[in-house]
Amino acid sequence: MADAVAFFDGRLMPLKEANINIATHAFNYGTGVFEGIRAYWNEEQEELYIVQPGTHFRRMQRSARLLQIDLPYSEERLVRITQDLLRANGFQEDVYIRPLAYKADAVIKVGLSGISSGFAMFAVPMGDYVSMTGIHVAVSSWRRISDNMIPSRAKVVGAYVNAALSSDQARLDGYDEAIMLADDGHVSEASSSNLFMVRNETLITPPVTADILEGVTRQLVFELADDLKIACEVRNIDRTELYSADELFLCGTGVQLASIVTVDRRPVNHGHPGPITQALQKQYLALVRGQLPAHRHQVTPVYRPRNDA
Ligand SMILES: Cc1ncc(COP(=O)(O)O)c(C=O)c1O
Repeated sequence: MADAVAFFDGRLMPLKEANINIATHAFNYGTGVFEGIRAYWNEEQEELYIVQPGTHFRRMQRSARLLQIDLPYSEERLVRITQDLLRANGFQEDVYIRPLAYKADAVIKVGLSGISSGFAMFAVPMGDYVSMTGIHVAVSSWRRISDNMIPSRAKVVGAYVNAALSSDQARLDGYDEAIMLADDGHVSEASSSNLFMVRNETLITPPVTADILEGVTRQLVFELADDLKIACEVRNIDRTELYSADELFLCGTGVQLASIVTVDRRPVNHGHPGPITQALQKQYLALVRGQLPAHRHQVTPVYRPRNDA
């Protein structure tokens, strides 16, 4: 990380010089929004592919609007900044990209209006975030924040205290991840990923009104399921359905597509990754490396940009 390059104050600069003042509003009140984007190295093509950067930046623009943060760049410009940043770092490995838009004034004032905005982005090498051969999860005693508290469909910096409390509790208790229930008791999502269940060969996931983040990967799973002719249903999931599901998996930029093999120490079906999860995981890991021709438009090359990038 010593020579890492970041984008800050409108230009590329050494990461170690990209610092904010301790009086910055976002540092004091959590008033920032962010994205988590991955780029995957394709060894054969010697190319780094960014996964759905435009979709991530559109969500970031929506998150920013909810917090009255001005994001001064278009979606296309944000994608170009990301390509420039990755090239400047010379990455030839899988990386995780973190853009942030935030309330930047050094001011003591609880509020959103009339406070100027900042934008920054950095990237770090990242391999698998959780095991790709099966994870153990627990239903958390922490409830997922609801839309009327902090908008769950926005990636708000301060809201990740909720995610940190639930995932930390799960890890201290010996699990890999936490599944959170919404305030009404239905299943919402995991601390930083969406949840899918398989019952009777149908994929089922909670709706966008279940206090979930509207995941970019969740949308990709719908498309991959369609390719594989797997039926999908969007509806509420009860907690006890987790104990009787045929298969369960998490999906998200960080966790990728991770099979759940136990919930609250109860094995999911036979306690091994199921066939539908495995088929989707295989397709997902090929897609992100630019290996699925039908999905090439969903990855953006860094070193040999296409005209449409
Ligand atoms: C709370 C939460 N839910 C779901 C997701 C999955 O979203 P995506 O697939 O866009 O990464 C994330 C990760 O960004 C998250 O932080």
